[in-house]
This record gives sequence, C-alpha cells and structure tokens, in this order.
Amino acid sequence: MLKDTVEFINNFTKNFKPEIGIVLGSGLGELADKYCRCKIPYSRIPDFPSSRIKGHKGQLVFATIEGRRVVMMQGRSHFYEGYSMSKITYPIKVMKELGVKTVILTNAAGAVNKSFRPGDLMIITDHINFMGSNPLIGPNDEKLGPRFPDMSEIYDKKLIKIADAAGRILGITLRHGVYFASTGPSYETPAEINMMRTLGADAVGMSTVPEAIVANYCGMKVIGISCLTNYAAGVSTKKLEHEEVIETANNVKENFVKLILLLLKNVK
Ligand code: HPA
Repeated sequence: MLKDTVEFINNFTKNFKPEIGIVLGSGLGELADKYCRCKIPYSRIPDFPSSRIKGHKGQLVFATIEGRRVVMMQGRSHFYEGYSMSKITYPIKVMKELGVKTVILTNAAGAVNKSFRPGDLMIITDHINFMGSNPLIGPNDEKLGPRFPDMSEIYDKKLIKIADAAGRILGITLRHGVYFASTGPSYETPAEINMMRTLGADAVGMSTVPEAIVANYCGMKVIGISCLTNYAAGVSTKKLEHEEVIETANNVKENFVKLILLLLKNVK
C-alpha cells in the first residue's frame, strides 16, 4: 500500500525529494498557497485519508521554502471523523518514505494553563495521549520502526531551541507546555479541563499526538507548535465555538508563518 502511494506521489512530483514535512493546522493553509510549486488533492492519492472539516483544504503541497524542500499537508484528517488511528497517521509514514527527516506539526488548541492566553503560540515539550488508542496498534512493520518504540523524547530538544531562538529574533513570545490529546469532536467539560490541568497539561486539542507518535517511531525528528485559540472550557465563562478557534488562528497566522519560515531556515 505504502509503496503504491509513494510511487504515485513521486511520479506526480517528478521525484521532488522533500526533507521537511509540515502538517498545517487551522489558519496556516496560506503558507501552502503562497509557496506551492506542485499540489495533489488527497482524494487523488491512493489510500490517503481526506479531511472534511471547515477551514481544512485537503491537499499535499510541495515547495522550496527558505532553500528547503518541503512537503506540506494542507489539512489533516482527525480521529473524530471516524478514521482509524492508523489511517490518520498514514500520511506521516508516506512522508518518511518520501525522504522527510524532520516533521513540523501545528495545530489549534485550547489553553488549559491559566497563565496562557488565546493568541499565544506554544511549543509542545511533551504530550499526554488520552485518545484511548494508539496509532501503532496492529501488526508492526519492522522496516518502519520497532514494536515497542521509546517515546521519552518525542519533541526534539534541538528543534525546540531553534524555535525559541527564532521566536526571540522575531519578538514573538513562545510558551512551552504539555499537549493533551482528547478525541473530540465535542469540546471538553470544565471538570475534564480541571483533570487535565491536574495531570500536567497546558493545552488541549484533537490532533497531533497520533502523528507525533508515528513520526518518532519512524525515526523522524519532531517539533510541535500549538496556536492557543481559546481558553479551554471553564477557564472563562464563554462557550466554545469552532468559529472562535478559526478567528483566533487567523489573527495569529502572520506571526505563526514568520516563525515557521525562520524555523525552516535554521533547521539543520
Ligand atoms: N479543545 C479541544 N480542541 C481544541 C480546542 C479546545 O478547547 N481549541 C482548539 N482545538
């Protein structure tokens, strides 16, 4: 399956060999539009899952940005859409086979840490997988990674340093924190958010963690960046709405894009 997908993509791109993969979360799609050199709708790629969420496009975009060959996922599929864990992380395995060494995962998330604010960017230092499943369940392909992969440093410390330095140069404050993955699609209850905070979480979202697990398993370096789009449930009295998430993500995107560009430039 993987072989067919990769062959299809390589034929399409005439063997453009990306070194960096980026999963673009809400609001970041513009980066792909701006630099696109070649794009393929997910629906045309054999075995690729396609997202049906508002604000997510659904295409694989290839570009050279800051001198780096990049493949971008403009839109991702989510567990809550009904896809299996293995299906939503299939694109990460495809990236590995295309030659990607470093993966940049981005998302929108709710602020669980009470000192964080909507509009903040947060570098993910670690995560808590509370999705009730694991993308590596099932037969293991030893060619991709080990049966029992270590997860003690999923988010690469060197990449975090590079991002922090980029943030300083750009004058963008970057938070650091633990991302808590829940399945959604319902937002959390205030009691659940209190539990997450007690367990050590700083932000909550419905994506990224399955992808980070698979990327780490495959031996790729990972950095995760969350755009905190709202206070998590109960932190403020406001009700949560997807529109608010999209709006804040749009307000932050200029800084977020700048950060990613400088990150791309400085990644070794
Ligand atoms: N909870 C879960 N996922 C999210 C949130 C949230 O508050 N905001 C953006 N994605």
